[in-house]
Amino acid sequence: MSFSMYIITILFLITKVLLTKQCCDSVVWNQNGTTIVDIQLLHWQKTITLPQIAIDSHLSLYIADGNQVRLIKTFQPLTLPFKFDEHSYPSTVFIDRHDNLYIADSGRNPRILKYSLTTSENWTVIAGGNGRGNRTDQISQCFGLFVTDNDYLYLADYDNHRIMKWPTSGKAKKGEIVLQQGDQFSPVDLFVDKNNMLYVVDQNQDQVQLFTEYDSTEGTTLAGGQGRGSNYDQLRVPRSLLVVMNDNCTTLYVLDTGNDRILKWSSLSWGKGATGTVVVGGNGRGNQSNQFNSPGGIVRDPQGNLIIADGNNKRIQKFSRQLSETDKSKINIKILVRSIVGGVCGLSIIVGFIIFYVIKYCHFQSVHLSWNVPRASVSTISTAESSSLSSTANHTYAEIGSDWLND
Ligand SMILES: *[C@@H]1O[C@H](CO)[C@@H](O)[C@H](O)[C@H]1NC(C)=O
Ligand SMILES: *[C@@H]1O[C@H](CO)[C@@H](O)[C@H](O)[C@H]1NC(C)=O
Ligand SMILES: *[C@@H]1O[C@H](CO)[C@@H](O)[C@H](O)[C@H]1NC(C)=O
Ligand SMILES: *[C@@H]1O[C@H](CO)[C@@H](O)[C@H](O)[C@H]1NC(C)=O
Ligand SMILES: *[C@@H]1O[C@H](CO)[C@@H](O)[C@H](O)[C@H]1NC(C)=O
Repeated sequence: MSFSMYIITILFLITKVLLTKQCCDSVVWNQNGTTIVDIQLLHWQKTITLPQIAIDSHLSLYIADGNQVRLIKTFQPLTLPFKFDEHSYPSTVFIDRHDNLYIADSGRNPRILKYSLTTSENWTVIAGGNGRGNRTDQISQCFGLFVTDNDYLYLADYDNHRIMKWPTSGKAKKGEIVLQQGDQFSPVDLFVDKNNMLYVVDQNQDQVQLFTEYDSTEGTTLAGGQGRGSNYDQLRVPRSLLVVMNDNCTTLYVLDTGNDRILKWSSLSWGKGATGTVVVGGNGRGNQSNQFNSPGGIVRDPQGNLIIADGNNKRIQKFSRQLSETDKSKINIKILVRSIVGGVCGLSIIVGFIIFYVIKYCHFQSVHLSWNVPRASVSTISTAESSSLSSTANHTYAEIGSDWLND
């Protein structure tokens, strides 16, 4: 490949990468999932519906199955030190950046438990625990948790049609209502960004809404809101969401439980009536590797693979991330840059040799020429100038050089 071809290709690829960067999310996944946990084989007692999952920094998987919170480490179920009884209902789990595990117990006495996976201290109740109700020290039913980087717990209080905020320290006697909506509002999962914008899955209204804290409006529809259905601008009883933020672009993944598929919208195109793109699933209800049967929870591991709790199939599926066109362009650019650097190095060695020989030749010529330099020329160096050895030397050389050039 000629050098100009290199340049043209590089410019083309750089432009392409810059342009595709605007549309943040070009990631694709293998459409066939692999089963990483077969819940059926674990012989857990109760029927598991819509299991929720979380992963810690060591990639251990935690599953809230309505009966227990299970830790799946190297495919062996370990039970955490919680004594859930028949009145308990662990409905969801969340793990924060310090590897604290939060469990929503939506049983007889709704409360949120916190447990440090690193220090293994005793668990503490950090929210609720004062019976079911709608007071600010109570929770009715919680199916969605989120902990911010500044250690606030946001919880989706389904039956109370509200979003509450509690400090994770466990010191608060009551929580704060950051969002209270009408009876139709049925929050099941949420995400909170750095600016305290709330992304909420409103299950009964088949939509995902964006709110600011203390918003009294109905929020902005990001996905769905077009009635219950299976078109690409519709949802059917969505259960969970995943929000991935890159630079200036955000991607919203919605676990569209009733349609057995995962859809995504990018911030460049979301809104009421916007069509989502199928990420995985969408091949009808079933137990094939590209199908689901009422999926419940979704997480993304650090490699970008999607882990999905496939409820009625009683399995946890993993969908591996594949290289997208943008990734391929980026890799191509790396290869090109490497070969160019290699080429330039090789070239500079050759050029170096040429320069070396040219200089050697010139030097020979100069030395040869200097024999012919008239004495008068050298004598023009004043005593003042000669005080600086280097400038004297330069001066002499310049004169000789220019004589040589003028030849
Ligand atoms: C997914 O599975 C189907 C059928 O089992 C197979 O035909 C297809 O090649 C697989 N795709 C990938 C990317 O593995
Ligand atoms: C752990 O906490 C529970 C509930 O607060 C308490 O009943 C139990 O005694 C504690 N266990 C230890 C070892 O501190
Ligand atoms: C809270 O619950 C009480 C008793 O169930 C009810 O009378 C009241 O209207 C509720 N308040 C709200 C804001 O829903
Ligand atoms: C993101 O947006 C900010 C301001 O809106 C801008 O300064 C910055 O260049 C943008 N970054 C990218 C990667 O587009
Ligand atoms: C998968 O579904 C088919 C058809 O419904 C059924 O016959 C089969 O037993 C299922 N396989 C498993 C592993 O559940």
